[in-house]
Amino acid sequence: MRIDFDPETMAGNSFYKLLTSVVVPRPIAWVSTVSADGTANLAPHSFFTVASVAPPIVQFTSVGRKDSLRNAEDTGEFVVSLAPEGLFEQVNATGTDFPHGVSEFEAVGVAQEPSARVKPPRVAGSPVALECVVHGTAGFGNSTVVFGRVVHAAIDDAVMVDGHAEISRLRPLSRLGKDEWGTVGEVREIARIRYADWEGERPAEA
Ligand SMILES: Cc1cc2nc3c(=O)[nH]c(=O)nc-3n(C[C@H](O)[C@H](O)[C@H](O)COP(=O)(O)O)c2cc1C
Repeated sequence: MRIDFDPETMAGNSFYKLLTSVVVPRPIAWVSTVSADGTANLAPHSFFTVASVAPPIVQFTSVGRKDSLRNAEDTGEFVVSLAPEGLFEQVNATGTDFPHGVSEFEAVGVAQEPSARVKPPRVAGSPVALECVVHGTAGFGNSTVVFGRVVHAAIDDAVMVDGHAEISRLRPLSRLGKDEWGTVGEVREIARIRYADWEGERPAEA
C-alpha cells in the first residue's frame, strides 16, 4: 500500500517539505561569493550536484533571490567548499538570513583563505574547494539553478590516499528532511558488472 500525493493540490510549502524529506541525503555546497562592492558571502546549499563531466560543471539552486545568487550573477564567480562534519554548527549558522552587506565569514567566525583562480575566498577549514566561473543560469518559478564551470580544485593532501579523496577523511555533512542532517555511515564497496561478464544470476534481496 502507498500513500499518494498531488503537488498541485497541496497547500503552502507542504510538497516542498515532502520532497526534501525523500530526496536524501543531499550533499551540501558551502557556497562563497563576493558582492559587486567586495563583501564576501557564505551560505549552504543542499540543492547541489555535478551537472556535467566534460566540461566539469557543478550546479546549485537558489530558492528565491538570495545573496549567493545575486553575487554569482553580478560577479560571475563562486566557490563550493565541502561542508565538513567538524564545522557542523558553523555550516548551519551561515544559513542564517543575515542582511545583504554582512559577511557570514565575519559574523559566524569562519576562517577564509584566498582562492587560486577566482575572487570569492575558500573556507580554510574545509578539505575541498571547487573554484567556479558561472556558466549560465536557468530559472524555474521561484528557483534559479546556477551552473558553474570548475576552473580549479584545491584539496587538502591530508584527505588524499593513492590519488583518491578518501571518504573517511573527508567526512562530509549531508542534508536530510526537517532539521535533520547526516554524517557518513557504513561505507560499502561493490564492483560494477560489465555486460560481457554478466552471468545471468539475479542478486538476492537483502
Ligand atoms: C544545510 C542547508 C542547506 C540549504 N540549502 C539551500 C538550497 O539548496 N537553496 C537555497 O536557496 N537555500 C538553502 N538553504 C538556506 C540558505 O542557506 C539561507 O537562505 C541563506 O541565508 C542564504 O544566504 P545568502 O542570502 O547569503 O545567499 C540551506 C540552508 C541550510 C542550513
